[in-house]
Amino acid sequence: MFGLPQASTLSQNIDALYRFIFWASFVSFAIIVIGIIIFVLRYRKRSAESDKKTPYITGHLPTEMSVASVLLILVMAIFLWGWIDYRKILRSPDDALEINVVGRQWLWNVWYTNGRQLTNELVVPKDRPVKLLMSSEDVIHSFFIPNFRLKQDVLPGSYTTLWFQATETGEHQVFCAEYCGAAHSQMLAKVKVLEPAEFEAWQAAWKPAVDGKPKVGANLLDVGQELFVKRGCNACHTVTESKLIGPGMKAVFGRTTELADGTKVKVDENYIRESLMDPQAKLVKGFPPVMPTFRGTLTDDEVNALVIYLKSLK
Ligand code: CUA
Repeated sequence: MFGLPQASTLSQNIDALYRFIFWASFVSFAIIVIGIIIFVLRYRKRSAESDKKTPYITGHLPTEMSVASVLLILVMAIFLWGWIDYRKILRSPDDALEINVVGRQWLWNVWYTNGRQLTNELVVPKDRPVKLLMSSEDVIHSFFIPNFRLKQDVLPGSYTTLWFQATETGEHQVFCAEYCGAAHSQMLAKVKVLEPAEFEAWQAAWKPAVDGKPKVGANLLDVGQELFVKRGCNACHTVTESKLIGPGMKAVFGRTTELADGTKVKVDENYIRESLMDPQAKLVKGFPPVMPTFRGTLTDDEVNALVIYLKSLK
């Protein structure tokens, strides 16, 4: 509709719903306007002398109930339809390619697991689910790809995700859709969709470079592993299952853990981030509240790297 390309698997669903709402509104509008015209003509004052009073009508329950039911059914249908599509947006497929996106005033940083970093550019394969794990370094931003019909707020201090499967190669515009300061309207990016084979070649062609010198293996996983030691995580946490001061980190990701207050929590990306920034907020049962906060000392990119490292300890 309105000539915007449908470039993701979701675009058509969203457009179909939008078209339905548009035409349902259009038909309702027409019925009301035609009704007004008919009543105006039929019950107009026909001559200056006529002072016949209009009848006093108190209402007609069956008519009112049927109009209300039709409207209720219409609204519930729109809700249900929207909810079904929204559920698809919420749950990303397990085999999705994960890419980290960090928003900051006023650009988007994209970091691939193999260490490749791009600014204001997201290169993805066609016909494959892609999951963006997003956070912000400063204020609230919003990642908006009109051609994919997708938009998700990007928050400081926690992760939000967005997944899509592109169906058309080429460039697709990204906007920031949350006012974030002076250069908000300049916070633009492009999604470049490549054929799967081209994407593989693009991935393989890249050689990680550190300080200008190529360094093989400087990917996010290695950065995370290095940080785990450099930041002293290993003083209290093993990467096996054995406990030191804190729990062992092996296979913690994805597990459901019991907290000191008896509640249970699933260890996901947001839990890890919260535990780094506010370690006592959700303390695991049986451990002392001694972990220091890393708020302000780890960048979002470093948090992402640590999350990827912990995920890898299966
Ligand atoms: Cu970032 Cu608006």
